[in-house]
Amino acid sequence: MLNRTLDTSRLILCPIALEDAGALHREMTWEVVRWLSPVPWPQPLAAMRGFCARAAEDMRRGAAAHHVVLADGRTAGLISLMPADGAMELGYWLGPSFWGRGLMSEAAETYVDAFFAETQAVHMTSGVFADNRRSLRIQERLGFVVVGEGLKFSKAHGRYLPHVTTMLGRARRRQPALAA
Ligand SMILES: CC(C)(COP(=O)(O)OP(=O)(O)OC[C@H]1O[C@@H](n2cnc3c(N)ncnc32)[C@H](O)[C@@H]1OP(=O)(O)O)[C@@H](O)C(=O)NCCC(=O)NCCS
Repeated sequence: MLNRTLDTSRLILCPIALEDAGALHREMTWEVVRWLSPVPWPQPLAAMRGFCARAAEDMRRGAAAHHVVLADGRTAGLISLMPADGAMELGYWLGPSFWGRGLMSEAAETYVDAFFAETQAVHMTSGVFADNRRSLRIQERLGFVVVGEGLKFSKAHGRYLPHVTTMLGRARRRQPALAA
């Protein structure tokens, strides 16, 4: 699934490799990790290397997709689709110096459309911690809708935080007017 390089107008999305660990680790500051549920803080480089190795293997097996986002030829962040509760779950992050230029919207649009084009999936899921308005805005523009509210454990914060679960159906993504 999506086991190839994807291009957008400003970005290259490259299948993850172990060699990406150092650059991803440099971009993954506290400002990033505080919004991601499964990542501890601080995260040792060895843990990032372990993640990259597992992610590359999961891609090889077709179980998940993990792409490094390259902007201006530099490693900017990561976008992924991972199995969770019977669906594929979209996740993403960028280093703070890359925020505010519409880059993740551009990456996610290409990623989501490629996923629906290459699979028979009827929907995908995602979610955000409740005060992550930037990320929720990206998902709303793609057509995701909020389907649940609850608490999710944040490893970085060491406690449960308010969280919303979102879902994007194939048919809804095909109707951009609904996603405006
Ligand atoms: C979330 C993240 C990926 C956004 O990347 P980005 O490239 O800056 O996002 P974009 O510029 O494509 O889009 C952000 C949208 O949020 C809007 N936005 C920015 N700050 C906002 C705020 N404080 N409140 C509401 N909306 C805001 C922007 O205007 C834009 O919407 P628009 O296109 O309608 O104008 C990036 O901030 C990040 O990596 N954060 C840390 C990790 C994270 O939160 N990952 C997602 C976990 S669910």
